[in-house]
Amino acid sequence: MTQPDLDRSRLPEHVGIIMDGNGRWAGQRGLPRNAGHEHGEIALFDTVEGALEIGLRWLTVYAFSTENWKRPPGEVRFLMNFNRDLLLRRADDLDERQVRVRFIGRRGRPMPRRLVEMMEDTERRTARHGRMTLQIAFNYGGRAELVDAARQLAVEAAEGRLRPDRISAKSLQARLYEPEAPDVDLLVRTSGEQRLSNFLLWEAAYAELVFTETLWPDFDRHTLFAAVAEYQRRARRFGRV
Ligand code: FPP
Repeated sequence: MTQPDLDRSRLPEHVGIIMDGNGRWAGQRGLPRNAGHEHGEIALFDTVEGALEIGLRWLTVYAFSTENWKRPPGEVRFLMNFNRDLLLRRADDLDERQVRVRFIGRRGRPMPRRLVEMMEDTERRTARHGRMTLQIAFNYGGRAELVDAARQLAVEAAEGRLRPDRISAKSLQARLYEPEAPDVDLLVRTSGEQRLSNFLLWEAAYAELVFTETLWPDFDRHTLFAAVAEYQRRARRFGRV
């Protein structure tokens, strides 16, 4: 799929991607799982390049979930160090390309303090950019995000700053990790799995779901363009007829 086939006037405002299948990709080649994650980085940055090429404004990728702590300790450690090294390798590039980087997810323990500092440093460095926002969901869970928002609403209500009967979808939205992010229009999951796995539960309420058999390390800008083309073939009704 080449990008000129896409209708630029009907791009999804926000694309979410569940980058799945790194482990299987490595297994098929007799490589350790971590080699799959390493190739996943190449896939991710070609996808970012493709997103910039077609003019996407918001891209959110699922890099580490609140459930991923249950993986073998060696893999968890690898993914923590990998995220840190990836920021060292890529932050300049993202900055030059005018990509605003944001992390969504919990930042407290057991997240390594040093990693959180680097994440926040990358956010600060790129905060002024407006070409595209790349959100990296790291130690992210859709339920955790809603729990955190509910907790904040409860605190404000208990302190008398918020009337419980005035709580609306808008007030909850305003307490999500990134209140400014538009709803996800297109949600892509790779590797043939057809689940949401706790990703952007609130934001993707009306998303078009596209599942591809491609394992994440084989994904690239052309697979992204094909997913956007599939999105453009769908009729979106938002509960209307
Ligand atoms: C899912 O594949 C992938 C992950 C849990 C990690 C995704 C990480 C990257 C693509 C690298 C980029 C990293 C950052 C920090 C932005 P899996 O391991 O579940 O594969 P499997 O389902 O085949 O076992």
